[in-house]
Amino acid sequence: MTYSRAIYLAISMVLLSSVAMAADHVVGDEKGWTVDFNYTQWAQDKVFRVGDNLVFNYDNTKHNVFKVDGKLFQSCTFPSENEALSTGKDVIQLKTEGRKWYVCGKANHCAARQMKLVINVLEEGAPSPSSSAHSIVSSIFGVIMVATIAIATFF
Ligand SMILES: *[C@@H]1O[C@H](CO)[C@@H](O)[C@H](O)[C@H]1NC(C)=O
Repeated sequence: MTYSRAIYLAISMVLLSSVAMAADHVVGDEKGWTVDFNYTQWAQDKVFRVGDNLVFNYDNTKHNVFKVDGKLFQSCTFPSENEALSTGKDVIQLKTEGRKWYVCGKANHCAARQMKLVINVLEEGAPSPSSSAHSIVSSIFGVIMVATIAIATFF
């Protein structure tokens, strides 16, 4: 391997590693997407960014996931059932900034059982406490990659 190719590879690795640091937010953590869980509280201390994923884990015989607008979120009324996500493990990539609303469309789960989540998605890569931890991790990873490639190339 030539010197310049090694450098090129190292730089690509560093760039890739920072892209791969977009966060996955598992909604409700280990509880998942279910009734009587306070998703307002869950979302409160989290930072959501364009490029991050929302992961909804749930029992798909009991629940589903509707992406709705603010009005439907308030009223808990939904589009038809077949527009819902219903795999039981839905991964939604956050593609645009702004407020996003998700609810369960089954029974009274939105209106009476707290199965509603509203988040505010920030632009990609703006500074925040949680992303600085990410960038430290990705920098360390990058340095290790560069060192590994340099060692592999020269020794
Ligand atoms: C959920 O948590 C939020 C924020 O802590 C709080 O304001 C709200 O009252 C809670 N909702 C319920 C139903 O407990």
